[in-house]
Amino acid sequence: MASKPLRFALVGTGLVADFHARAILESPQCELVGATDMNTERLATFAAKYQCEAIPSLEALLARPDVDVVSVLTPNATHSALGVRVAAAGKHCLVEKPPDMTLEKADALIAAFDTSGTKLAVCLNCRFRKALAPIKQALAEGRFGKLLACDVYMKWFRPQDYYHLDAWRSSREHGAGVTVQQAFHYYDLALYLMGPVTRVWARMENLAHPGVPVEDTTLALMDYANGARGVLQASTAMFPGSDLRIEINGSTGTATMVGERVVRMDFQDKRPEDAQALMIGAAQGPTGAGGAAAFQHHEHMYLIEDLCDAIRENRDPRVTGREGRRTLELALAMYDSAETGRWIELKG
Ligand SMILES: NC(=O)c1ccc[n+]([C@@H]2O[C@H](COP(=O)([O-])OP(=O)(O)OC[C@H]3O[C@@H](n4cnc5c(N)ncnc54)[C@H](O)[C@@H]3O)[C@@H](O)[C@H]2O)c1
Repeated sequence: MASKPLRFALVGTGLVADFHARAILESPQCELVGATDMNTERLATFAAKYQCEAIPSLEALLARPDVDVVSVLTPNATHSALGVRVAAAGKHCLVEKPPDMTLEKADALIAAFDTSGTKLAVCLNCRFRKALAPIKQALAEGRFGKLLACDVYMKWFRPQDYYHLDAWRSSREHGAGVTVQQAFHYYDLALYLMGPVTRVWARMENLAHPGVPVEDTTLALMDYANGARGVLQASTAMFPGSDLRIEINGSTGTATMVGERVVRMDFQDKRPEDAQALMIGAAQGPTGAGGAAAFQHHEHMYLIEDLCDAIRENRDPRVTGREGRRTLELALAMYDSAETGRWIELKG
């Protein structure tokens, strides 16, 4: 690591900004210069809490020579427009997931950073979950045999008030709904582990949040290019919420991750490292099942540190704009399927 920390400024000081601020402050690789927000009261509270500058506007923030990286932490459908301005200012950017709400806007975001030559990372922080490494390794070594299934179960709970905290949380157009708002991280992990999905079928319903015009429950079937099949069951209706569960099955092995823990590594070819994998994440905390702020910031920190390394080493960050776009394509295909009742083919 180079000695000089990279200097971050945040756009948006809402719920997720706390996690970014804590991650930045905890990492020796970066420091927090300040933040901006259209909501001046929220901005002032945030600046006081984290002892950083309340920067009055995005223009002022982008003009600052002492800002290297801008983190875009605003509602989902604003990410591309704001990110394009960050690229034009010649800054590096961390944009919260999803990259935006249409592929056209995601493409505009990616193109802006291709042009600027500065780095763009998408905040898919769960990619940095330590439990994924042994599973990914077993996949790379072919220990599952013929891959048969990769299933994702996200049976979470959000109370009714969650949907009324801010107007965008109940607007499909602005990126609300369990499919894109909560589950995005987890079918992203399925793509990360299994590779592309070739087609998807989905149904979406609102089971337990009356008056909220977006889905709180999604059921989807996925065909992976590697021949496996998969299920996604994602909900914010299921009190009190259970930890995320991802299970991969093959003809010669099964692995299961629950929350941040590997709970099963069971292969025909038995190895001592499989028992060690079961120790990973043993002292975990909450992972989002029961509330919007009930998770920890360490995965955000790993992702931010990877972006800092990418900037210093002039390489791509681990989660690029194109990676985020691939997951967005799957999300949009699910919405398309839920509307039409048809299987939707993905370009990948
Ligand atoms: N990676 C994760 O684990 C995770 C967790 C929660 C939220 N998120 C993502 O983070 C983003 C923000 O979510 P949130 O829950 O913090 O939302 P929020 O509504 O709590 O906060 C967003 C803030 O952005 C401000 N804002 C909106 N447009 C702006 C603009 N043009 N300029 C300046 N400020 C602006 C709003 O005033 C608000 O304070 C969303 O994209 C969401 O999907 C990610």
